Amino acid sequence: MLDYHASPDLLNDKVILVTGAGDGIGREAALSYGAHGATVILLGKTVKKLEAVYDELLAQGSPEPAIIPLDLQGATKQHYLDMAETLKQQFGRLDGVLFNAGHLGVLGPFEMIGEDEWDKVMQINVKSQFLMTQALLPLLKATPSASIVYTSSGVGKQGRAYWGSYAVSKFATEGMMEVLADELDNTRVRVNCINPGATRTDMRARAYPGEDPATLRTPRDIIPLYLYLMGSDSQHVSGQSLDAQPDKIRPRAGQ
Ligand SMILES: NC(=O)c1ccc[n+]([C@@H]2O[C@H](COP(=O)([O-])OP(=O)(O)OC[C@H]3O[C@@H](n4cnc5c(N)ncnc54)[C@H](OP(=O)(O)O)[C@@H]3O)[C@@H](O)[C@H]2O)c1
Repeated sequence: MLDYHASPDLLNDKVILVTGAGDGIGREAALSYGAHGATVILLGKTVKKLEAVYDELLAQGSPEPAIIPLDLQGATKQHYLDMAETLKQQFGRLDGVLFNAGHLGVLGPFEMIGEDEWDKVMQINVKSQFLMTQALLPLLKATPSASIVYTSSGVGKQGRAYWGSYAVSKFATEGMMEVLADELDNTRVRVNCINPGATRTDMRARAYPGEDPATLRTPRDIIPLYLYLMGSDSQHVSGQSLDAQPDKIRPRAGQ
């Protein structure tokens, strides 16, 4: 999928929400969706980062985006219901959601995982996307062809020592995708997961501080799969967990 070529107008007239759009893979996905014609809704925690992406989108000639500043740690069901209503009123539609925001938490022995840290990882990586999906489904179901993309990880497919709550949260994400994809079979909403694989971002640097980032693929390198799953070429693909870097997958590979 690294060599998928999206047509320039792949996402024309589509409205796509990206969580964690201010940095790393989410930032690149937002810019790329905008470059292919989408109106991108930028959701994230740090407003300055979202504003920078907003400006980049305008500078590259993409449709005017929108910003939703939201800390997924504190957000409640009502925040997501309000958000869905605002999107409905302002845009009248929603064609896709990339659930990309993620929290690494503390890596270390299972016995040492603190309850607060466990809750924080589960809140940001699992519960927020459960609540947001519930709130957004009516809008997604109303569009001719909608795509939900969750973000998994290698440690969400095979458990690995010291990856604790993060790994468990990514297993839960894979499970959420499978349950929802099965329920929405034969509807106009498709649901899939992407495992980005080792990618040059701040999160990766926090997980592997001794690694030379120059040895890693960049977010831009892995974007073809993100475009494929959001556009009409994947219209009949659902319930899949796809690797953005299939050539790099090794047994028991990290992150
Ligand atoms: N990079 C890799 O090698 C790799 C490998 C496998 C899976 N992944 C997954 O890929 C996704 C993107 O990761 P990345 O590497 O691009 O990480 P990143 O550069 O650290 O970006 C994470 C994004 O999530 C946002 N975020 C974190 N906590 C949030 C919160 N409480 N509320 C709202 N937004 C929040 C961040 O916003 P702020 O910047 O404002 O905090 C940031 O935009 C994650 O789900 C990660 O688990 C990454």
